[in-house]
Amino acid sequence: MRNPYLPYTVGVRRITVENEAKDIKTFELVFHDGADRGQFVFRCGQFAELSVLGAGECPVGIASSPMDTQHVQFTVKRMGVVTTALHNLDEGATIGVRGPYGNGFPMDLLEGSNIVIVAGGFAFTTLRSLTKYILHPDNRDRFGALTVIYGARSPGELIYRYDLDDWANRKDIQLHVTVDSGEEGWHGLVGYVPDILQKVAPSSESAVAVVCGPPIMIRFSLPVLSQLGFSSNRILNSLEMRMKCGFGKCGRCSIGHKYVCKDGPVFTLEELQGMPQEY
Ligand SMILES: Cc1cc2nc3c(=O)[nH]c(=O)nc-3n(C[C@H](O)[C@H](O)[C@H](O)COP(=O)(O)OP(=O)(O)OC[C@H]3O[C@@H](n4cnc5c(N)ncnc54)[C@H](O)[C@@H]3O)c2cc1C
Ligand code: FES
Repeated sequence: MRNPYLPYTVGVRRITVENEAKDIKTFELVFHDGADRGQFVFRCGQFAELSVLGAGECPVGIASSPMDTQHVQFTVKRMGVVTTALHNLDEGATIGVRGPYGNGFPMDLLEGSNIVIVAGGFAFTTLRSLTKYILHPDNRDRFGALTVIYGARSPGELIYRYDLDDWANRKDIQLHVTVDSGEEGWHGLVGYVPDILQKVAPSSESAVAVVCGPPIMIRFSLPVLSQLGFSSNRILNSLEMRMKCGFGKCGRCSIGHKYVCKDGPVFTLEELQGMPQEY
């Protein structure tokens, strides 16, 4: 059996600067050994530990779709030691990847349902993976209507602009992109995500909502979803806790009897309501 702490070695094939502040970058990684890519079978909503020699490792959600078999993408905001080391890399560098870890989004619940994605800031990453997965021609029929409400502080802070432009031209996704404050040249929506959610008012009929973003956005979005009729077992959220091992061994990420790395990071609101408020 493979040592679970041993990372796969991957090459950084492409680095995309996602925002004006240049502190969010997407890393497109290719496995040095093709067989390793075959082992790295992931679901939307899972994460991996990225490691940079001499700096350490950190958990990052998988931003690409499992349907993209040639590479794996991660979108990383520069925060501290490891993420800064990642941001300092050049294309062609070698790093380590361990995983995939976590439960991912529950496809048994999502398939056959209308999907409402509510996202804010750079937490859009795993929801971008889910959106791309649903929109793939091999999968689109297995899901109902897809509504995506995504917001950032300003137009320059919107990530995945290339995907947003592509999705805006499609008829099989209702896309609502908003910014907290507009600026010259911005012709899209202006307003906080929970307010736009209220205005768009997606039907809760046969629907599941998936919410990821800053705590304040989540706090104000949940009552709106509840008003719209979404029950707490049909609202999903992905938690970010401090982690170490990533696969349920070290206890670093425990909340009550749950390990966020293994039992999560995706939980229904109903599950979260039954857990101690330590997140
Ligand atoms: C399941 C999961 C998925 C994640 N997905 C992404 C992602 O897709 N993109 C991304 O940019 N980041 C993601 N994160 C957060 C990322 O792991 C942290 O930003 C990273 O660990 C910081 O490491 P560092 O060494 O750069 O910072 P440090 O030097 O360790 O700390 C710098 C600052 O970051 C804060 N911080 C450290 N770890 C975390 C953490 N786990 N959560 C929140 N704040 C933290 C510290 O409190 C400190 O203020 C995810 C975290 C988890 C648990
Ligand atoms: S990070 Fe080790 S148990 Fe979750």
